Amino acid sequence: MSKNSTNGKTLKFVSLFSGCGGFDLGLTGKGFRPLQAYDQCADAVSHYRRNVCSRAERADLTQFSPQVSITPDLVIAGPPCQGFSTAGKRDFADKRNHLLPLAGRLAAALQPKVIVIENVAAAASGAHRKYWEELEGILRIERYRTHTLKANAAELGLPQTRRRLLLFAWRTGREVDFQLAPKMQGRLDLTLSGVETLPDHEPELLSPNSRDYQIACRIGPGQKLSNVRGGPRSIHTWNIPEVFGTASAAECAMLEFIMRARRQERRRDFGDADPVSLATLKTEFHNQAWPLARSLLGKGYLRRVGDHFDLCHSFNGKYRRFQWDDKACTVDTRFGEAQLFLHPNEHRPFTFREAARIQGFPDEYVFDCSKRTAFRLIGNAVPPPMGAMVADFTKELLGR
Ligand SMILES: C[S@@+](CC[C@H](N)C(=O)[O-])C[C@H]1O[C@@H](n2cnc3c(N)ncnc32)[C@H](O)[C@@H]1O
Repeated sequence: MSKNSTNGKTLKFVSLFSGCGGFDLGLTGKGFRPLQAYDQCADAVSHYRRNVCSRAERADLTQFSPQVSITPDLVIAGPPCQGFSTAGKRDFADKRNHLLPLAGRLAAALQPKVIVIENVAAAASGAHRKYWEELEGILRIERYRTHTLKANAAELGLPQTRRRLLLFAWRTGREVDFQLAPKMQGRLDLTLSGVETLPDHEPELLSPNSRDYQIACRIGPGQKLSNVRGGPRSIHTWNIPEVFGTASAAECAMLEFIMRARRQERRRDFGDADPVSLATLKTEFHNQAWPLARSLLGKGYLRRVGDHFDLCHSFNGKYRRFQWDDKACTVDTRFGEAQLFLHPNEHRPFTFREAARIQGFPDEYVFDCSKRTAFRLIGNAVPPPMGAMVADFTKELLGR
């Protein structure tokens, strides 16, 4: 029996919302064979055809119901996560949210023994949980048993925090203990070792005359630019006067005070901080409160919110510089932007080849497109090692 078949029969799958095939590569590496893959994006389909299998078709799955001549063992789906993700607006009414239950309907119509649908962890939290429950309901009506597995790419040995939900649905009558085998924590230095020898690894150093370079020079490994968090991991805009303008010691003290007070004195029941009143500033700075606040308003470090004051640049973190001996945060479609993520010891963003390695793509995967498109395809993908984990659990569910 060949290594790529189990009990003499190759396991076959259909892939919905297949993207460039990250999920699918994990399955093919474990001996599964794609019957057909569907995605509406031309770049995704061309990359799937080139790197995974020629059986990929461009289709808008809201308008088209896949049909295959052989009943697949497995259907996988990775519908869009933008309406659920905490990295976006989390718009409950985002039209793409309906693609999650649609994926369940389309998968069940193909009558496989196993279905696995992937999405971000936030897809099952808050009001958005309605879509996840609708998906589970559709599959249960079709007599599938379901289990939601919470997985993090970091637990699979990748140097990246990437929390995802995988809904397993099966009609095999089997029980599976969905436990992940412990793996060594991934590290960027080990994963990126030798990447500089690859022909399409083209690092773009920041220009020494640029604002990004001046900021990057001040951000050390493990640090980020953040005005709203304290501690050694946060560099504040007022620590970089050559870019953001000078602030006196007393003004810096007021900015640090506001940074703490805005999170301690809560008035609203949303967000994690509130603007601070002049009365609060007076408890610390007495008759200097207003002159200092006025000066900081003029310098662009403070802004008025009604009759209160808040910090400018109140994002949680930008220009995050990762550490060689640690992992990165989630590789998303913006992973190549220096304003968000910095290489551990060079003043530059990551290359798409580095992003692909951190996602677990093989170096042989060819990206025949613009860098921007490569980052989109890579950031949207299920890491192939997560696909491999799905393959292992599916084999157990099928008794192979
Ligand atoms: C999260 S990505 C899937 C990534 C894929 N699972 C992988 O591992 O590479 C979501 C995909 O859904 C596709 N998509 C969005 N709306 C679609 C639609 N209406 N019909 C078909 N595909 C769609 C996007 O083009 C995108 O490739």
